[in-house]
Amino acid sequence: MSDRVTTITTDIVEAVRDVLRKHDVTFQEYRAGFMHLVKTQQAGEIPLLIDVFFNSTIVDIENSTRKGSKAAIQGPYFVEGAPHVSGELAIRDEDKDQPRMVMRGQVTDIAGKPVPGAVIDVWHSTPEGRYSGIERHGEVDKKYYRGKITTDANGRYECHSILPAPYQIPNKGPTGQLLEEYMGGHSWRPAHIHYWVQADGQRDLISQAYFEGGDYIEDDCCNGGGSDFMVPEVYEDGVRVMEVDFRLEPAQAVMQAAE
Ligand SMILES: [Fe+2]
Repeated sequence: MSDRVTTITTDIVEAVRDVLRKHDVTFQEYRAGFMHLVKTQQAGEIPLLIDVFFNSTIVDIENSTRKGSKAAIQGPYFVEGAPHVSGELAIRDEDKDQPRMVMRGQVTDIAGKPVPGAVIDVWHSTPEGRYSGIERHGEVDKKYYRGKITTDANGRYECHSILPAPYQIPNKGPTGQLLEEYMGGHSWRPAHIHYWVQADGQRDLISQAYFEGGDYIEDDCCNGGGSDFMVPEVYEDGVRVMEVDFRLEPAQAVMQAAE
């Protein structure tokens, strides 16, 4: 095993021991914590638990060396193979009267040169805060509210949809209990749009854009607000404009950093 793995795992165990000593944790309390983790495992929520509390920290660490736009957590609702779209994401019939938004902007490289042909996967929630193509979210066909947009010759993109909504992460199980009951928090995320930008020779960028002035912007339960994209409240003909420009850094920056 590498020295790094040994150092990090030893430090994690020591950090937990420090907390137990600091609070004079009793055997009974220790067993209660232990049983909560067992319950989390039995509920199949270990991935949720770890992602809710620590994924954003890893993204922050990566962002500290990123030269282009900042990344944000991917979240669990990305679906492979979304359709290529132009102009508009597929909207359910029952949502046709919902408030609209337009996602637009430009993809450039680190020097500001437009990147034509970049593919931007976008995905966002329904007005009830559900995602399409996710079994536990019910019957929302995966063609809705997700798609791949390609940038034009000037690196620009534009795509219409309806506004997403704030939503609660799964909160009925042990992770929700930890977050809400034991830690006194809540399980809401602010409304947001997810992006995964890919272009030849550039480092992938997975990020999110937020709606300035929206609910839960200041206390996202997933600390997901690390991205560059807090978009001001601007409307054109009643349509919320989500102008987001992505600056991609060269793919080799990753390789150099890993060497
Ligand atoms: Fe999301």
